[in-house]
Amino acid sequence: MKETVFSASTGPDDLLDIAEFRALAEPRMPEDYRNFVNNAGMEQTLRDDIAAWGSLHLRPRALVDVSHVDTAVTVLGQPIAMPIITAPFVGSSLIDPEGEVATARGAMAAATITTLSMMGTRPPEDVGAVAKGRYWQQIYCMRDRGVVQDVIARAEAAGASALCLTVDLPVMPAFPRPMRVAAQALFRRWQEPEHMMYAVRNYADRPIGATFPDPAATWADVEWMRGLSSLPLILKGVIRPDDALRARDHGVSAVIVSNHAGQGLRASQPVAHALPGIVAAVGADLEVYADSGIRSGADVLRALALGARAVLVGRPVLWGLAAAGADGVKRVLTLLQAELAEVMAITGATSMAQVDRSVLGNIPREAAQRD
Ligand SMILES: Cc1cc2nc3c(=O)[nH]c(=O)nc-3n(C[C@H](O)[C@H](O)[C@H](O)COP(=O)(O)O)c2cc1C
Repeated sequence: MKETVFSASTGPDDLLDIAEFRALAEPRMPEDYRNFVNNAGMEQTLRDDIAAWGSLHLRPRALVDVSHVDTAVTVLGQPIAMPIITAPFVGSSLIDPEGEVATARGAMAAATITTLSMMGTRPPEDVGAVAKGRYWQQIYCMRDRGVVQDVIARAEAAGASALCLTVDLPVMPAFPRPMRVAAQALFRRWQEPEHMMYAVRNYADRPIGATFPDPAATWADVEWMRGLSSLPLILKGVIRPDDALRARDHGVSAVIVSNHAGQGLRASQPVAHALPGIVAAVGADLEVYADSGIRSGADVLRALALGARAVLVGRPVLWGLAAAGADGVKRVLTLLQAELAEVMAITGATSMAQVDRSVLGNIPREAAQRD
């Protein structure tokens, strides 16, 4: 359990919550990266997500023996120490020289899964060597299906345990000026040799800008992708229950309820409002995960109470990476785990199986909506 006000401090560099990691990390990030991470000029959707989680009140439960709380869970049959997984990010070598490999090291030290972006700067082989099977490979459906095919083959050979197809960016949105300036500067830096995306480095004859994204991708591509490997397929960026049902009918194993934390459809429904309808629609047929705006162990518990089996965290992991590399990632993850264990204890749950909707004191009407 996390250090409390009643126990001795373990050192001056103890960071007590995600906001403290953010405060330490932001001055260490290149300005363009910081603006990109902060959705500069288009903050509202992320704000709505954070507010929607925060609006779900929790109820303490009295006099349960909570001397031992276990946060372990299995996802797609794979056991992990906490229901918290690192989300995929574009090009993180700009904030740590090891980039996605450092994120993987931190995730392994916390005994969970890391997700490598197809737009990452360190390749599947390097992440796979560190992650030893605790790694999901994120995929974008590029116009050039050869790139998709090659990355899937490399990920499978590198020991990925699942593929995670992002479906919420069929077109690149036209960003407002501050975000556009940041994104353009970053994409220039991602052409530099030491920061180049592996999918560009290895497929230089097929530049990523010309092939990403493919607005013509459909459910037929999901079927095609399933045929390319024996790995379970997860869809990332599902908000509608009817899409989750379609995913099930196309042999998908899990969905991540996500709105890309405000970087895709602006004015998207918050994930906390979309999640219950999806869980109700798919029942036990699919595993359901959630991301976008999770900032504390209480937020993790809220997502689990609404029926998610696990969450992905994005920015908090990037803040950990920028603050202290792999160790920072580990500390962010174990901090969230400790916070989760604490709120589980106070709400009377000693294992994931005991977390249910009864821990919620209120469910706003939008979050209760089931269709
Ligand atoms: C800087 C940045 C880069 C991202 N890159 C990707 C990506 O390459 N692929 C993807 O599927 N999602 C990407 N995302 C979305 C995250 O995977 C995740 O859905 C989101 O960050 C979760 O919300 P949170 O940051 O509030 O925790 C990115 C997000 C950020 C902030």
